[in-house]
Amino acid sequence: MLNCVDVEANVQITVFLGAPGSGKGTQAKKLSLKNQFVHLSTGDMLRAAIKNETALGQQAKSFMERGELVPDDLVIQLIKETLTQLDSSKHILLDGFPRTVRQAEALNSNPATQVQQAVLFEIPDDILIERLTGRRVCTQCGQPFHLKHMPPKLEGSCDKCGGQVVHRSDDQESVVRKRLEVFHSQNKGLVDFYSRHNSLRKLDANLPADKVEKLLFGILQ
Ligand code: AP5
Repeated sequence: MLNCVDVEANVQITVFLGAPGSGKGTQAKKLSLKNQFVHLSTGDMLRAAIKNETALGQQAKSFMERGELVPDDLVIQLIKETLTQLDSSKHILLDGFPRTVRQAEALNSNPATQVQQAVLFEIPDDILIERLTGRRVCTQCGQPFHLKHMPPKLEGSCDKCGGQVVHRSDDQESVVRKRLEVFHSQNKGLVDFYSRHNSLRKLDANLPADKVEKLLFGILQ
């Protein structure tokens, strides 16, 4: 079974668990502006692989378009390669990984990649649908916006890098519903896994973003 046993980096890891649209990426991007945190998003990495037409991107594309998970072995390999190259003095925020118990076990297989804490972003499904169908993202830096809650200052243009701001193809309602179904089929297993390892913290993600940020920063200190 593919795992992280041979990753040599000794890093501090927090994983962000939670449904699509619960705000994991928004908060991880805010935190990564502070020097000690590094944001790693498997979704962003996979989208970059698709854009660059790599072998991984070609394998992942159809799963992502359907709102399904990319196979475990592909994603575990991606995380292994990334963790191996990281500066071990940083605090890694893993956003979107693990998504399955198998992925969690792969990380846990090595003392160097053990998770210090797992933060579960909790929020009702009806709010998620509104957040995702209204979400717009920068094609250059991945910064998320929302048509109503966090619109870009200049329509269609990223506040941070000036990149083009678009509607993600998997944020159409039918695909969003599929992603939520997939999330609910996997989440209980992950919550049980991290509860057993005494590292689960729950966060009310149905609050304004600045309040969520304060709660999260308190957890991470
Ligand atoms: P990924 O990119 O990881 O998508 P996701 O988990 O579905 O999460 P999102 O990025 O959609 O949501 P988020 O929680 O980051 O929300 P955000 O901050 O943007 O994965 C995409 C696909 O890749 C998967 O479907 C799968 O195919 C594949 N994949 C990725 N990782 C994988 C893995 N490990 N294994 C297998 N396959 C994998 O916020 C959402 C919106 O809400 C934004 O518009 C934002 O502006 C707004 N918002 C945020 N916070 C607030 C707030 N507090 N109040 C109001 N609005 C808010």
